[in-house]
Amino acid sequence: MAIKSHIKALVVALAAAASMSAWADAPIVIKFSHVVATDTPKGQAAERFKQLAEKATNGRVKVEIYPNSQLYKDKEELEALQLGAVQMLAPSLAKFGPLGVKEFEAFDVPYIFPSKQGLYNVTEGPVGKSLLQKLEPKGITGLAYWDNGFKEMSANRPLHMPADFKGLKMRIQASKVLDAQMRALGANPQVLAFSEVYQALQTGVVDGTENPPSNMYTQKMHEVQKHLTLSNHGYLGYAVIVNKKFWDGLPADIRASLEKAMREATTFEKAIAQRDNDMALEAIKKSGKTTIYTLNPAEQAAWRKALLPVQKDMEGRIGKDVLGAISKAANQ
Ligand code: LMR
Repeated sequence: MAIKSHIKALVVALAAAASMSAWADAPIVIKFSHVVATDTPKGQAAERFKQLAEKATNGRVKVEIYPNSQLYKDKEELEALQLGAVQMLAPSLAKFGPLGVKEFEAFDVPYIFPSKQGLYNVTEGPVGKSLLQKLEPKGITGLAYWDNGFKEMSANRPLHMPADFKGLKMRIQASKVLDAQMRALGANPQVLAFSEVYQALQTGVVDGTENPPSNMYTQKMHEVQKHLTLSNHGYLGYAVIVNKKFWDGLPADIRASLEKAMREATTFEKAIAQRDNDMALEAIKKSGKTTIYTLNPAEQAAWRKALLPVQKDMEGRIGKDVLGAISKAANQ
């Protein structure tokens, strides 16, 4: 009898040990949710991060990518990250205002970056770093900036001069700067989640929109927009962010490997972003569905005149110091 109960205890102990070691061997899962297609700069960089991270950690980390708003739309994904339902996101910098970090809306200010180099001076320097730190009190750690590109405007009517925007319902991301930008052009801004834009354009819920060509092409927006103006009036980029509690709780060696994988994925992303947008613009042209227009110098000047006051108007919201620091770095 005594032997029998000893054997039973031994079996229970062995089973517990086996299940504990199975648990110890279970990979750490990073759910990475995003709203764009896989064949965009962000989509491809997420895939590259997955490959690099899984290899560098010998499979101790598994990265699951959910593209195209499969799991969450714009606003929900940030809430899901804070709750820990997903661990990693790369929202556009225009989407941090509703979280209470309005400073990122500086990236939306029309013409604030004279060039890509000007942008990198910000994102790769101390100003970019200090902006990411503003996410920490929200339970979010910022890991990197990912690039997309300069935005173009589209609608079903030609957009040559600011007056052409009068009365148009223009879809925007949830940024007060973008709201002010569209109002400065005489349009009516409407906030919509990215996943809803194609249908809203198709059904006339909105008349037009803005985005870099890679986003327009991969969502087929050009099929429901007759005119596209190469305005390059503003910038679209991303912050790659993680749930802070999750990140701080990782074993130090794993976190170091993931940081390295992120640095490499970021270098890759920067290298492909412009090329992807150039290719998407070519594909839009080839489709013959949208007339592409390049602003002449007089039109460019009229757009600037209409949009430059937005920066001053937004000083109260974003902070004069932040805008000043970004402008200074961008123009160095
Ligand atoms: C948009 O909502 O227009 C874009 O920010 C989507 C994205 O993440 O590129």
